[in-house]
Amino acid sequence: MAKEKEKKMFVGLAWNCVAELKFLISALLFVCSLATVLQFLPSRFSFSPSDLRNCVSNVSTTTSISNSTQPLPVLPSPPSFHQDEVVENGIIKRNFNPYGAAAYNFVLMSAYRGGLNTFAVMGLSSKPLHVFGKPSYQCEWVPHNTTTSTTTTTVGHKILTDWGYGRVYTVVVVNCTFPSSVGHGGSGGKLLLHASTNGGGDRNSNVTDTIEALSESPGSLNPSIFTSRPKYDYLYCGSSLYGNLSPQRIREWLAYHVRLFGERSHFVIHDAGGAHPEVMEVLKPWMEKGYVTLHDIREQERFDGYYHNQFLVVNDCLHRYRFDAKWMFFFDVDEYIFVPPKSTIKSVTDSLLDFTQFTIEQMTMSSKLCYSDDARKTYRKWGFEKLLYRDGKKGIRRDRKYAVQPQNVYATGVHMSQNVAGNTTHKTEGRIKYFHYHGTIAQRKEPCRQLINDINITIDETPYVLDTTMSGVAGTVKRFELKMIGPRLQRTRQ
Ligand SMILES: *[C@@H]1O[C@H](CO)[C@@H](O)[C@H](O)[C@H]1NC(C)=O
Ligand SMILES: *[C@@H]1O[C@H](CO)[C@@H](O)[C@H](O)[C@H]1NC(C)=O
Ligand SMILES: *[C@@H]1O[C@H](CO)[C@@H](O)[C@H](O)[C@H]1NC(C)=O
Ligand SMILES: *[C@@H]1O[C@H](CO)[C@@H](O)[C@H](O)[C@H]1NC(C)=O
Ligand SMILES: *[C@@H]1O[C@H](CO)[C@@H](O)[C@H](O)[C@H]1NC(C)=O
Ligand SMILES: *[C@@H]1O[C@H](CO)[C@@H](O)[C@H](O)[C@H]1NC(C)=O
Ligand SMILES: *[C@@H]1O[C@H](CO)[C@@H](O)[C@H](O)[C@H]1NC(C)=O
Repeated sequence: MAKEKEKKMFVGLAWNCVAELKFLISALLFVCSLATVLQFLPSRFSFSPSDLRNCVSNVSTTTSISNSTQPLPVLPSPPSFHQDEVVENGIIKRNFNPYGAAAYNFVLMSAYRGGLNTFAVMGLSSKPLHVFGKPSYQCEWVPHNTTTSTTTTTVGHKILTDWGYGRVYTVVVVNCTFPSSVGHGGSGGKLLLHASTNGGGDRNSNVTDTIEALSESPGSLNPSIFTSRPKYDYLYCGSSLYGNLSPQRIREWLAYHVRLFGERSHFVIHDAGGAHPEVMEVLKPWMEKGYVTLHDIREQERFDGYYHNQFLVVNDCLHRYRFDAKWMFFFDVDEYIFVPPKSTIKSVTDSLLDFTQFTIEQMTMSSKLCYSDDARKTYRKWGFEKLLYRDGKKGIRRDRKYAVQPQNVYATGVHMSQNVAGNTTHKTEGRIKYFHYHGTIAQRKEPCRQLINDINITIDETPYVLDTTMSGVAGTVKRFELKMIGPRLQRTRQ
């Protein structure tokens, strides 16, 4: 196709003249995509490669003297401007003329193998494109050495995990499953994703972007990872952390959960701006001990998605660590998983091995009511040690959190996954639950606002009951922290 050739030429040109100027290259690519778009518009202009080169050289002369903080060059107006016109019966037909560019067709975050013939590609895509159009995806495997194997193509199945939540962008997980294994001879290759708009957003155009989602160097594929025993029993995939978080609350959460999940556990934390220097202080000891991995995802803020793109990062986490853990847990840092004293997290998950997924019931805790016996010593107590009043309202549906055996999961959500092979159970009452201290984590003040002297009380029509389940384990958790990392966090502030 002529279009393909032009594209290649362009890229070649860009690399030759201006290898040092990243920005210029993106500007050129932008112009190229524009040229591609223009081709599909029924326009009076036709573009020949020489026209395009002319245009490119003009762009180079203007941008090479500017610096990278300046905006992209101003786009020419669309080739065919539509005036309003009066049609039959005096109806005024109004027209709409687009300028500039809308949300991106695809913003690539990552791509991972899920086996010898299957991949998952994680990204964001324009939400209106998906609401008003039917964008489609094609996956292509291109071996590095085309004499030993050939290129194969397959349909990419899109999974929209945050449907109903997306904002300017929605999260797309593209499942690329080829009829047989690719790149298995250790010869390496790359996965290309062809993302076509199919006229969504603007029915006059069908733009296809080709994205290099993954590149495997020869010899880098180790198929044994798909079958060997996972490195961890439990892996925590956290949502995006943001805001002025309380370092003390994070400290308590980590000590509590490292103790609960034990030696073969790992915590993946996503920093969307919440890991400020004081929070880093409490993460550091656990990072040094190998329990915590921190991902800086602040860059995602450029793309307006639901809640700091939390659906994107949990899907990245799922696929990135899919073969590293037997079980993956998805919940927040103001939530505490609890198993009754006679059981352990292992006995509970072992009893649920037949299920790919189980969900966990919520205990809603007050974020300000404390017990009057604790007066005068509240400031020394930990959050879950002093916030003792549970919302006792009956018959209301509360959010649940969940855990999965990740190898049978293809995409995930925040409250549960709807793309799993195998069964899901919600019948976990009495075996496992979680305590939710909503509104305590981004508060830098003492949480106890009201001391209560009763075992139950009704405030603003909400009945609260005293629940000391969590405070009962505080001593053990504090000793555990001291044993594991010493006293270095003792002076942490709220
Ligand atoms: C590029 O600049 C040259 C010289 O200024 C001009 O003749 C030509 O029309 C320009 N091309 C485009 C596409 O603007
Ligand atoms: C870019 O150009 C502007 C205006 O010329 C200047 O104020 C700014 O300092 C420049 N930035 C860089 C990174 O060079
Ligand atoms: C893609 O979907 C297929 C079938 O639903 C599944 O077997 C495969 O594991 C999935 N791949 C990934 C990477 O999730
Ligand atoms: C590709 O594979 C063939 C056959 O194994 C080999 O002879 C050739 O050198 C390889 N080419 C490259 C570029 O590795
Ligand atoms: C848009 O382009 C893609 C890739 O060339 C093609 O598969 C798809 O059928 C096209 N869609 C329409 C509506 O023409
Ligand atoms: C899921 O549950 C159904 C009914 O309880 C059972 O027949 C089926 O074998 C289960 N599937 C798996 C994969 O365990
Ligand atoms: C606490 O609640 C129980 C039933 O839920 C009730 O019988 C009891 O009277 C209540 N106690 C107080 C002090 O309100």
